[in-house]
Amino acid sequence: MQHQLVLVVDFGGQYTQLIVRRVRELGVYSEMVPWTTADDAIRTRQPAAVILSGGPRSVREPGAPDLDFSVLDGIPVLGICYGMQLMAARLGGQVDRAEDREYGARQLTSHSPNSLPAHLESGQVWMSHGDQVRATPAGFSVTAVTDSCPIAAMEDPTHRRYAVQFHPEVSHTPGGRALLQSFLRDAAGLRGDWSSESFVDEEIARLRATIGPDERVLCAVSGGVDSSVMAALLVRALGDRAVCVFVDHGLLRKGEAEQVMGTFRDHFGPALRVFHEHDRFFGALEGVTDPERKRKIIGEAFVRVFEDHAAELSGCQWLAQGTLYPDVIESGSPTAAKIKSHHNVGGLPDWMKLKLVEPLRWLFKDEVRAVGRRVGLPDDMVDREPFPGPGIAVRIVGEVTRERVRAVQDADDIFRSVLRERGLNKGIWQSYAALLDVRSVGVMGDERTYEHPIVLRAVESEDAMTARAVAIPFDALELIASRIVNEVKGVNRVLYDLTSKPPATIEWE
Ligand code: XMP
Repeated sequence: MQHQLVLVVDFGGQYTQLIVRRVRELGVYSEMVPWTTADDAIRTRQPAAVILSGGPRSVREPGAPDLDFSVLDGIPVLGICYGMQLMAARLGGQVDRAEDREYGARQLTSHSPNSLPAHLESGQVWMSHGDQVRATPAGFSVTAVTDSCPIAAMEDPTHRRYAVQFHPEVSHTPGGRALLQSFLRDAAGLRGDWSSESFVDEEIARLRATIGPDERVLCAVSGGVDSSVMAALLVRALGDRAVCVFVDHGLLRKGEAEQVMGTFRDHFGPALRVFHEHDRFFGALEGVTDPERKRKIIGEAFVRVFEDHAAELSGCQWLAQGTLYPDVIESGSPTAAKIKSHHNVGGLPDWMKLKLVEPLRWLFKDEVRAVGRRVGLPDDMVDREPFPGPGIAVRIVGEVTRERVRAVQDADDIFRSVLRERGLNKGIWQSYAALLDVRSVGVMGDERTYEHPIVLRAVESEDAMTARAVAIPFDALELIASRIVNEVKGVNRVLYDLTSKPPATIEWE
């Protein structure tokens, strides 16, 4: 059965992915499309509803993000913030600069009992706008106001067009979920029967239809959650035509390569092929310090491994990767700035001959974990912390050498074992040690030292799009620092990274 689709048109707003998440949480499958290609996507994919996101620009500026509203005829639409302003501007209303720009929590009053804002539990809403709608288009009525915003929501139920100036998708709008649910269920008549579990059957059917009956797929497995779930899904769909390969590049955590091979053998039988490639990766990374170059080199080295072993890989025509939705978004799109090339998205070289399949490309991490459980992966694999494809290379600022990798592995092992022993690892999204390329002076056993610092990072997060440093008790940090300085060669200082994402990212590079 084909699931109903809600397309969220992205006008460059900070919360667009959150809208997608909220819609999915309400049981309706949703994807984001950049505004630049939205009219085509709406025409060809015929979504059951469309949500227009917020955005930083003003609809009054020349060249501001736009949409041809004729493609929306007959489709239920919800405009949020910029989406509301665009709806007003395109349908004959009026938008102006707000005298009182609203940022943050505001009290909303709705006087229309059957309108969307009437579903908000309390009147508190989250606002973030400089423009506002001055006059509604014909056929619309005003359904809510705030002290400083006389048209905080409007709707034309006859044409199933709704708009709110505030952000129902953020947690600071307590009734936002109920509002979105009312739009999806009551206004758009959607069933709400999608879940990440239902994704499994659909995706298996899609994989069987995409991969020819005589074709084979090379599943690149890193030991992380995403690639394990991806491989499990492909094995389910294609049996032994899914060839699982693990490249031991020397950039994993201490003891992790052995652990991955063990779990996979237990789970997938002898199907896992392992290539030991330390020399290739360390050789290619020699002298390289630029983070983007490191990622590109590692991505390329992976593909060269696969191509070099092509004969052994029984003529695979496809390469499967565990790319997730946040990887896709953060690797840059017409509307989002490029933060880093996740090696499994941006780093593949032009000469790569394998066709690419990415079954998890539309899922968020927690959804991938649910899929993993559904395809029968053990908890210790599904609940693993996310680990970047380029591994420890992006946790070493400066050149990646065997010695520096060993220092990070040892420090990381101490850090994470103390967290585990003290039961402090619960609720942590990711924790790791990184090595910097500055040096500082210390004193050890009456001798002067001039060595490098280790940075410890532990964050909590929902989907890696945003993150906050975890408040690790000071005595635990002190113990970890003392053990690292004493036990790890070449390290004489330990720092704890307190920065949230944004403005930092989770990884150092
Ligand atoms: P950042 O550092 O961008 O990371 O905040 C967000 C999440 O993505 C992981 N990460 C990667 N995963 N290939 C991956 O498969 C990569 O190149 C990569 N870079 C970062 C990171 O560990 C975090 O979970």
